[in-house]
Amino acid sequence: MNDTVASLHFKFEVNGGDFAKAGDASSRVKKILQQIGADQAIIRRVAIACYEAEMNVVIHARHGFVVLDADLEKIIIVVDDEGPGIEDIELAMTPGYSTAPDSVREMGFGAGMGLPNMKSCSNEMEIHSRRDVGTTIRMVFENA
Ligand SMILES: Nc1ncnc2c1ncn2[C@@H]1O[C@H](COP(=O)(O)OP(=O)(O)O)[C@@H](O)[C@H]1O
Ligand SMILES: [Mg+2]
Repeated sequence: MNDTVASLHFKFEVNGGDFAKAGDASSRVKKILQQIGADQAIIRRVAIACYEAEMNVVIHARHGFVVLDADLEKIIIVVDDEGPGIEDIELAMTPGYSTAPDSVREMGFGAGMGLPNMKSCSNEMEIHSRRDVGTTIRMVFENA
């Protein structure tokens, strides 16, 4: 009998405004998934969605964490931040909607496609947000 369940848990810090390190947490997540031999297609979806969520902390919030949980059945990414929160989630989900300032747009961010992409890359996505407190996004990815 073998009741061992292969599972892993990692947590990475993300700092608002730190464009030099932006994307590092998502790169680490991608490497871990490659090392455990996850399916290429799921790695791609997780990497895109995780990067978008991480960038949203860098662009829009003050501080946060990217948490990776994976087992044989699914991969879960939770991105939790302290920041302004999202006042109108439905509006924020609209493709092309962005409140990113010009300074951020000049760096090539702020196309307003992050949340829609996270939604389409994941099998499930939940957003919890409180104004002036922060935002938590939980995404579940299952093998096709
Ligand atoms: N973590 C967050 N904290 C506060 N606001 C956010 C966060 N993530 C997204 N938003 C809001 O939702 C909008 C849309 O997000 P997104 O689709 O990723 O586009 P973009 O990041 O290019 O602006 C943002 O412009 C911002 O107003
Ligand atoms: Mg974004």
